[in-house]
Amino acid sequence: MSGPLDALSAAGLVPVVVLDDAADAAPLAAALVGGGLPVAEVTFRTEAAAEAVRIMAARGDMTVGAGTVLTVQQVDDAVAAGASYVVSPGLSRAVVERCQEKGVLALPGAVTATEIQAALELGLSTLKFFPAGTSGGPAAIAALAAPFAGVRFVPTGGVGPQNLHDYLAIPAVAAVGGSWMVPRDRIRGGDFAGITRLTSEAVALASGSAV
Ligand code: 3PG
Repeated sequence: MSGPLDALSAAGLVPVVVLDDAADAAPLAAALVGGGLPVAEVTFRTEAAAEAVRIMAARGDMTVGAGTVLTVQQVDDAVAAGASYVVSPGLSRAVVERCQEKGVLALPGAVTATEIQAALELGLSTLKFFPAGTSGGPAAIAALAAPFAGVRFVPTGGVGPQNLHDYLAIPAVAAVGGSWMVPRDRIRGGDFAGITRLTSEAVALASGSAV
């Protein structure tokens, strides 16, 4: 693996995690790795996010990123904690430029041709496509991939076992993101065995895709 993008592409799946308690980070990381998915996007929607990134990244066998990054300060916090990529729901020049200064991969959201052109002007070529389900889904990505031949997408939002293959079948899709294998209530409830099972099922489903 030469970088986080290679790791995300190899996995084909990015689990989007909301952690209420950083104490859950270690068992969650073990559950993901045990399920065959050494990748996580830890969303900065909770106070536990930075510490959770630190715990997961310290394992050394996972590609750990920060999600829901809205500010430059959050970029700094995420990178200090060990995040190797930074995901945002939309396109922020300030966030992207801070990622570039810090040398981490920025994966901002873009769902229109105008947003994609703005991202290209910032030197990006891989973008989150969020919220995928309500932004046209696989058909929209396929249509946008025609004029933006070099752009790759990570559709997230409304992706699950029922439509995973529709996304992964598109050559422009690098990976899909989703929370279905890491339900917040299972994390809260300590059901890490269940998360390992959901994760291994998701990995099996993704690896069976024609990608
Ligand atoms: C999110 O922002 O929560 C992610 O896009 C995950 O969406 P999902 O819960 O629909 O998988």
